[in-house]
Amino acid sequence: MLSLKDKVCVVTGAARSIGLAIAEEYSKNGAKVAMIDINPEVTSQAERLAREGYNVKGYLLDITDQKAVFACFEDIVATFGEVFALVNNAGIVDQRPFEEVTPEQIDKIMRVNVHGTIYCSQAALKSMKSLKNGRIINFSSKSGKTGSALMAPYSAAKGAIIALTHAMAFEYASNNIKINCICPGITDATGVWSAVSEGYTTNLHLSREEVIKKFTSKIPLGRLTDIQDLVEFVYFLTVSGDYCTGQAFNITGGREVH
Ligand SMILES: NC(=O)c1ccc[n+]([C@@H]2O[C@H](COP(=O)([O-])OP(=O)(O)OC[C@H]3O[C@@H](n4cnc5c(N)ncnc54)[C@H](O)[C@@H]3O)[C@@H](O)[C@H]2O)c1
Repeated sequence: MLSLKDKVCVVTGAARSIGLAIAEEYSKNGAKVAMIDINPEVTSQAERLAREGYNVKGYLLDITDQKAVFACFEDIVATFGEVFALVNNAGIVDQRPFEEVTPEQIDKIMRVNVHGTIYCSQAALKSMKSLKNGRIINFSSKSGKTGSALMAPYSAAKGAIIALTHAMAFEYASNNIKINCICPGITDATGVWSAVSEGYTTNLHLSREEVIKKFTSKIPLGRLTDIQDLVEFVYFLTVSGDYCTGQAFNITGGREVH
């Protein structure tokens, strides 16, 4: 296993939920961590971690702005050094009946999930090529493998991330850069699940308890995904998994098997 001591790790969507937990895990393992988010809370979370003695910095950034992304990564390299790992966790979801999907909604979903992942990866790859080493972990979803009703644009965006991961992995394998993605199932205590479950209560006319029961009943291991399940897997792909690239790993309690 690699040591993360003083390695530079960048996490997008790090103001809360899964991204914040990954940033904390990297920090606790000695990495220098750049936390990116469009939500200003990223700064206070980074300051909190810095007060606890970790080497972190928060960056207020909209990952859909390519110029701003490149400038941000220049600052990260100047502050911490070349980037070893990038976790493209930032993502958004929206839920509505397929025929009510608007051009604006499609654009927004694609721009944050797909364009944002591409821009941050382009910026980080410069560093990783110079290190001749690196890890990129993209966030797809179970919906990227088997699309979800009422979430067509999101499913399309997450499917695109799987194909993007394959293409990038092939292109950068010779630079010793390992590029994989993870496909989480419904993850409790997160912004995405909160938006999705609210959508289901509106669109399927179910109470929140009924929504949880309905979706949990489809999971062979009998529970929703925990943030910690994802943190552990992302950490494994960062410090180990040296012979793994171009894969899309299901973290779904057995719900998705392909
Ligand atoms: N929660 C789930 O059930 C679930 C399931 C499968 C996949 N995922 C994926 O996991 C990832 C994290 O999800 P989460 O539930 O922790 O979401 P979340 O909403 O709790 O956190 C996502 C973060 O991304 C940030 N973000 C959004 N747009 C941004 C932008 N343009 N620039 C920078 N930051 C931006 C948000 O401000 C937020 O802090 C997402 O990619 C999501 O699609 C989540």
